[in-house]
Amino acid sequence: MRAYAVASAGEPPAHHDVDIPEPDAGEVRVRVAAASVNGFDIAVAAGYMANFFEHRYPLVLGREFAGVVDAVGPDVEGFEVGDRVLGVVSKPHLQEGAFAEYTTAVADSGVVAAPDALTDAAAASLGHTGSTALSILAALGDVEGKKILVVGATGGVGTLLTQLAAAEGGEVIATGRTDEGRQLLLELGATHAVDYADLVAAVRAVAPDGVDAAVHLHGNPTEFAPLVKDGGTIVSTLLYAPEMFPDADRITPAPIAGYPTGDALRRLTGLVDDGSLRVIVDREHAFDDVADAFAAYGHETIGNIVVIID
Ligand SMILES: NC(=O)c1ccc[n+]([C@@H]2O[C@H](COP(=O)([O-])OP(=O)(O)OC[C@H]3O[C@@H](n4cnc5c(N)ncnc54)[C@H](OP(=O)(O)O)[C@@H]3O)[C@@H](O)[C@H]2O)c1
Repeated sequence: MRAYAVASAGEPPAHHDVDIPEPDAGEVRVRVAAASVNGFDIAVAAGYMANFFEHRYPLVLGREFAGVVDAVGPDVEGFEVGDRVLGVVSKPHLQEGAFAEYTTAVADSGVVAAPDALTDAAAASLGHTGSTALSILAALGDVEGKKILVVGATGGVGTLLTQLAAAEGGEVIATGRTDEGRQLLLELGATHAVDYADLVAAVRAVAPDGVDAAVHLHGNPTEFAPLVKDGGTIVSTLLYAPEMFPDADRITPAPIAGYPTGDALRRLTGLVDDGSLRVIVDREHAFDDVADAFAAYGHETIGNIVVIID
């Protein structure tokens, strides 16, 4: 099958012909319709994850997908061939990624029925991204009435987190570089949407006493940590150890590793089904142009960048 893969350690990713993966016990195989680009994929491609996960080559990139179940491994309940699903590739090793015609994923924790309301591109933007947003929400604790600064809010994680935190009564101050991005964040429930060109001044203008928590999805946390009140929290998807956080003597550090669970995936799809969560897709790329999708990630995007696998 055709896959976007790293052939051996240190090589840049490229299209390769690789074997179709077989589902192990507890897994399903999915004919992938769409897969979205995440920071994780960029990091794996750059070799940054070598110390954290076993790498098996050829290593197919891609964490988050939507598609149709095409084979069911032993000991799987609740899924049948033909089910339209979304999910996350989240095995302890890296090899059977989502930028391919077929992938495999753990049925209990990494796959869920895809909501009818979502296109393939949107469905492929919910599993990993949404699980991460839910982990951040859990780390924030009770957000009701609290001022929550989300730095990097225009991306896939931030657009979901803004909605989730606002729905729980948080006063979300969300950053966006463009007018279009800030307008969308207000529509998604942010109380304030601010340009991060002068982040500290923009936040002080709407929260003169500071914020209760900051969520670090982008930017420099040393710059905005002073905005967090004493005893507050910084949640980061980018700093993975407490000692990496600024001002840890007065602000609680909360490193996040987004990981799916069956409950989290069902909660996310349930919110989509009842109309209370929107999934934002910035753009779709053809599989031939997956390298362009990787290059575009992180720059003035609004929502997720998705690759359509045909
Ligand atoms: N630890 C984990 O398990 C985990 C899981 C998922 C994601 N992540 C990380 O979490 C972050 C968010 O993920 P994502 O997929 O939502 O990213 P994304 O789609 O790339 O969104 C990030 C957004 O941040 C904005 N931005 C760029 N530079 C900025 C700056 N200096 N200050 C503030 N905003 C800036 C960009 O939009 P504008 O410039 O147009 O505003 C961009 O759309 C990424 O760094 C990703 O690697 C980690």
